[in-house]
Amino acid sequence: MRTPIIAGNWKMFTVVEEAKALVLALKDLVKDVTNVEVVVCPPFISLLAVKDVLAGSRIGLGAQNVYWEKNGAFTGEISAPMLKSVGCTYVIIGHSERRTYFGETDETVNKRVFAALSEGLKPIVCVGETLEERESGQTFDVIKRQIVGGLANLSVEQMASVVIAYEPVWAIGTGKTATPAQAQEVHAFIRKLLNDIFGQTTAEATRIQYGGSVKPDNATELMSQPDIDGALVGGASLKADSFEKIIKF
Ligand code: 13P
Repeated sequence: MRTPIIAGNWKMFTVVEEAKALVLALKDLVKDVTNVEVVVCPPFISLLAVKDVLAGSRIGLGAQNVYWEKNGAFTGEISAPMLKSVGCTYVIIGHSERRTYFGETDETVNKRVFAALSEGLKPIVCVGETLEERESGQTFDVIKRQIVGGLANLSVEQMASVVIAYEPVWAIGTGKTATPAQAQEVHAFIRKLLNDIFGQTTAEATRIQYGGSVKPDNATELMSQPDIDGALVGGASLKADSFEKIIKF
């Protein structure tokens, strides 16, 4: 059985005081949740403050990106040891916004995945096709390229720490969710790919989140699909009550 994992990707929202208030409210609302793993991914500058507020709760802490070198003259970057030092256990890698606006490629995703794993951080590796790619029938080719490239050279042991997030780019922030059937189709395809690359045990154990306009009113239906093991939530994770409702789907 795969424990569902629901993560909030706060993107570039909240100053420190807002981040603390949000997680303080959330902590109380989900204090009795034990059957779902909950993670929040605030902006870098709030990680430490949020970690303090989270003391004594089961909510995990994640970052939204990581650089692949441990340290050095890389102005503006944040490394895996730094994330670990503020209490992160997860890190989102290869989000479509990073691919679109910041030149992320499958190759750099792969480097970041190795950097995260080397510090014991669990990568949440994002994949997803654009609307143009879907409409021209390339969805499965794109997902395959992103999975094969992003997870290249990982061992079965390393893969045990990886979470995948399928986020169709056309569903992110648009209010246009993939239908449960559309999402399930791609999730099953990803699991089949994992089976081909890492074998059946890994494929069956790997959690694959869906992301893209997940809201309280569509979470249950999405999460009841056999290959959907949680959600990566953007907008709806910025309000404690809507994120709570998704967590309690
Ligand atoms: P929305 O939930 O705002 O569509 O964002 C999804 C996302 O990109 C999570 O990483």
